[in-house]
Amino acid sequence: MHNPDLDLAADPEAGTATPPAPLYLRRSGTALLIDFSTGEPALLHFGADLGPNLPDLSLLRDPVPHSALDTPVTLGLVPQASSGWRGRPGLRGHRNGRAFSPRLRLASADVNDAGSAVITQIDPAAGITIQTEIRLNEGGLLQLRHHLTNDGPDEYTVEELAAVLPVGRAATEILDLTGRWCRESHPQRLPLHQGTWVRSGRHGRTGHDASLLLAAGTGGFGYGHGHVWAVHLGWSGNHESFVDTAGDGRTVIGASELLGSAEVTLASAERYDTPWLFAAYSGAGLDGISEAFYAWFRARPHHPGVASGKPRPVVLNVWEAVYFDHRLPALLELADAAASLGVERYVLDDGWFRGRRSDTAGLGDWYVDEQLWPEGLTPLIDAVTGHGMEFGLWVEPEMVNEDSDLVRAHPDWIAGPALHPGTGASGGARLPERWRHQQVLDLVNPEAWQYIYDRLDALLRENRISYLKWDQNRDLTEMGHAGRPSVHAQTMAVYRLLDALRAAHPGVEIESCSSGGARVDLGILERTDRVWGSDCNDALERQTIQRWTGMVVPPELVGSHIGPTTSHTTARTHDLSFRAITALFGHFGLEWDVRGLEPAEHTELAHAIALYKEHRSLLHTGRMVRADEPDPALRLHGVVAHDGSEALYALVSTATSFAEVPGRVCLPGLQPGSRYRVEAVYPDPDDSHAFIQTTPPPWLGTGIEASGQFLAMSGLPMPVLNPEHGVLLAVRRADDPANGGQPVRNS
Ligand code: GLA
Repeated sequence: MHNPDLDLAADPEAGTATPPAPLYLRRSGTALLIDFSTGEPALLHFGADLGPNLPDLSLLRDPVPHSALDTPVTLGLVPQASSGWRGRPGLRGHRNGRAFSPRLRLASADVNDAGSAVITQIDPAAGITIQTEIRLNEGGLLQLRHHLTNDGPDEYTVEELAAVLPVGRAATEILDLTGRWCRESHPQRLPLHQGTWVRSGRHGRTGHDASLLLAAGTGGFGYGHGHVWAVHLGWSGNHESFVDTAGDGRTVIGASELLGSAEVTLASAERYDTPWLFAAYSGAGLDGISEAFYAWFRARPHHPGVASGKPRPVVLNVWEAVYFDHRLPALLELADAAASLGVERYVLDDGWFRGRRSDTAGLGDWYVDEQLWPEGLTPLIDAVTGHGMEFGLWVEPEMVNEDSDLVRAHPDWIAGPALHPGTGASGGARLPERWRHQQVLDLVNPEAWQYIYDRLDALLRENRISYLKWDQNRDLTEMGHAGRPSVHAQTMAVYRLLDALRAAHPGVEIESCSSGGARVDLGILERTDRVWGSDCNDALERQTIQRWTGMVVPPELVGSHIGPTTSHTTARTHDLSFRAITALFGHFGLEWDVRGLEPAEHTELAHAIALYKEHRSLLHTGRMVRADEPDPALRLHGVVAHDGSEALYALVSTATSFAEVPGRVCLPGLQPGSRYRVEAVYPDPDDSHAFIQTTPPPWLGTGIEASGQFLAMSGLPMPVLNPEHGVLLAVRRADDPANGGQPVRNS
């Protein structure tokens, strides 16, 4: 609802209007407080809820120090030097070198409902208006983005427009994520000192090393304890995220799109929109941060399964089974084997289109290869759908091989630094270095965009395809259109392409893959239905990759497949149980040649698939919890139903432990006053010699009952697992009549 009382005079410097009341948003234990009394929106608080009544704002302001400006320095919604801010500026921009120091002042503050607002600031001298949208969602996830409009007659260049939030003074540590191909989303920690910690992504895509989450928190914050402030930028192009601690002791955390030289130059009346910054605060460790993100994802009407009620199907992806060797008989055998195991979606990976026998040729020619598939994909699709499975297809629409009919016809459709790009063969200008033998298709060129749209649209119309694995397999180095940097425009063009195809084919699900997990972010996830977290299917590596990807992205959106017995990317060999227990905590599938399995292995794999089907509704709706386990070789994570009625935990050993026995391991997250039955459900405890080193604790074979309080505070004595093994524990409320239990008397 628009509140006219909040509008100020047209010239905010005139200062005659009464400042609007502070903006105080509160939800799910989190609060944001913005004061307008100085004429500039001042970020006074982001963090714990401060109670129902607006606090006395004087208690949230610092005194003026010695050798400083004479007035208190405001941390603005867009921090600016004109208010004395000497940390990282919120806006860097200019008019051909002039108007370099903005003085933004409040024009209006519209509180739309209890959880959202639009704040408008203007600088008439610089000729810019910035509107900031803020939403504090149910579940406590905050969203913030700016829109900058050029009100002047000439061009305004935006170099950076950041979204920032204050961090509590108690924060002393930083945590972020980094990685590489086959090792995405690994955490790193460092102390928070004065100065700026910046993570820059210049890959033109999100990047294998992208910090999916940047967090600052109190000393030693863990999964279940400590105060944590965390941000994520919902953007698939270049970006920076940072923690900036100024000399006065104030810390801000934020992120921005990383723009190239003159990449965003606005003509009069043109607008630049920043990506959404997503931010969460938790007073109970990182699990609370995940809870805020998961709640936001799951409240979206288009979140998989929400409208349809359809569970996440078991996937078989053929990549590691056949690679580029596409032969119909083998692919049909795979479909038969998959169906016999209970697979529900069959995905044909790279290698099906014209000229694609290896990764050196074919990208761009999105026609079914007539030599490999004389009858088209129909015989395979008929077999797959005849088994009751969905059919999915791999595509990589943003890329071309120079060895393709498309590039031979349109050499100038390759994106690059030159004014008139084109291949060397055609006498064109310099191209970026090749990466996996490929170049980037310039989707900023409307003809190239339309060609790709038409090809994908035709493929989806002509074939019964329910799912696209949408890949993107190189960094966008020296990315340019018509001689200017174009990562921003290319990213927007990719978003438009996805949006248009989804609108035309609403029933088709799309997975975002990028050489594994190089494009995992909330920008791409707004228009896709899951991400491929990594090309590494080694369960040991996946334990870390999934745990940390899962800080932000809920398990139903993270593809997680059982790979071959010996991993193709690490050559490690793992039992099926460890591989399956690892894959269960995601959108489960297989990436393994399941033709000709030994009967015992077939039976066990079918059992693992049945376990996933039994537990997927819990796994994909519940609360993720992780134990702050002191032994670095042991990990425990679980998913607990929101009503506390059931949970599924995995105890995993990643190495040998320093201790002879693990002692008791806590099962967090259950209702303290309820009584629960805990059972080891996989691997079969009767076969414990296969995964346990000594005599297992007696309860492992029989199950045990204990209160949620006991399980969280004391925990259960755990078996000595063999390294790189796991055990799955199913927990049900024993006093729940639906679970066949008795009413609980005490805990
Ligand atoms: C990328 C993907 C893989 C596979 C190959 C196909 O590397 O991450 O899963 O699809 O491409 O070329």
